[in-house]
Amino acid sequence: MSFVSIDTIVNLCKRRGIVFPSSEIYGGLRSAWDWGPLGIELKRNVKNEWWKALVHSRDDIVGLESSILMSPKVWEASGHVATFTDPLVECTNCHKRFRADHVDLAKACPNCGQGPTWTDPRQFNLMFKTHMGPVEDSAHIVYLRPETAQGMFVDFMTVQQTSRKKIPFGIAQQGKSFRNEITPGNFVFRTREFEQMEMEFFVKPGTDEQWHKYWLDERMNWYLDLGINKEHLRLRQHDADELSHYAKDTYDIEYEFPSMGWSELEGIANRTDFDLKAHAAHSGEDLSYYDSETDERYVPYVIEPAVGVERPTFAFLIDSYREEEAPTASGKVEKRTVLKIDKRLAPYKVAVLPLSKNADLAPASEKLAAEVRRHFVCDFDVTGSIGKRYRRQDEVGTPFCVTFDFDSLEDNQVTVRDRDSMEQERIPIEGLVEFLGKRL
Ligand code: GAP
Repeated sequence: MSFVSIDTIVNLCKRRGIVFPSSEIYGGLRSAWDWGPLGIELKRNVKNEWWKALVHSRDDIVGLESSILMSPKVWEASGHVATFTDPLVECTNCHKRFRADHVDLAKACPNCGQGPTWTDPRQFNLMFKTHMGPVEDSAHIVYLRPETAQGMFVDFMTVQQTSRKKIPFGIAQQGKSFRNEITPGNFVFRTREFEQMEMEFFVKPGTDEQWHKYWLDERMNWYLDLGINKEHLRLRQHDADELSHYAKDTYDIEYEFPSMGWSELEGIANRTDFDLKAHAAHSGEDLSYYDSETDERYVPYVIEPAVGVERPTFAFLIDSYREEEAPTASGKVEKRTVLKIDKRLAPYKVAVLPLSKNADLAPASEKLAAEVRRHFVCDFDVTGSIGKRYRRQDEVGTPFCVTFDFDSLEDNQVTVRDRDSMEQERIPIEGLVEFLGKRL
């Protein structure tokens, strides 16, 4: 397990404006979080790497952005109105509510210590309800989607026909989902509003198990390629009583979080033909596929890798966090905090640091930063000693710092410092963009 505590990561996120509580000036809204300037870059990089791996680098997956608000009939057909529930119990002493499967019902309440005096479990539907238009009656109920997946199912025919993809092929989507979780918590791990990255891969029935295995390997490799320690990841198959109402078989990719232990990052489910058949039955539309190669018509099976953006982003922060001893310019040894995060995920790729605030350095160093910024996300920082500025960049994982000093004005060279090795190299300004490009 990673040695860092969740509190350390939460503090770093708050201190550096990566993630902080939503509506904080009003005391916050429980378990709702805002992603600040560095956080949004990090999150966007995670989304881009997912999109690159699943859509842009392949010929057999296309993208989609479906509407968050969908016909309520979608959620009746999908089974979410009837079965997207968690069992809820209440302590009759303090009236705090818990998910029945998150507490030991034979023991005292974890909030007030009394009991056990639990109410009988009742099923609580996790979908957020609202009304479409000005009339707040049952005829106008709509739901905030609890998964992006249904967009891919109801648009299956349109996307297949317009993209002219043949089975096997996939439809991918990133977007917000909402669940009225009974017990949100553990920072961004379980929230009521979150962003999902889901892909429905449509396959010929009978080939589904083979494709399921293929996607387990692909998705596991995505995390490993982006630098998560192999020891901190595992695949876990769902027991029969854990399976969602639509799934024949599901594996979770789990990460060993500090204090929380092994917890789900991503679910990879074999959803069979459940959803397409349900929508065909409820809508009256034929959602079967004609396979011209085999002259067969069938309803495809679906393999679904589904992940939130926040959980892997949280894991990337934890897994890359290091506290190290580092020598300073004066020969002393100091502690440095460094995010050894994959360069593709780092919020800033480069920081340009003029050696001092001296006005002579300003025009040329600002010009250099503007040039670097045309190619890479780049910070420009003039405040504090150069050592402090290196530390600030280290703790947010900036792979390269470029120091512009007084000699730079004469010899047109700058010093490039590598985040991980802390080695410094003097290179001509003319070749800087190419130098960074090769390494980023
Ligand atoms: N379409 C299938 C589906 O939604 P899920 O296992 O319920 O399956 C998929 O959710 C992923 O979405 C999870 O593995 C997790 O990464 C993320 N997720 C689900 N609920 C979440 C929550 N309340 N907060 C943050 N992320 C969540």
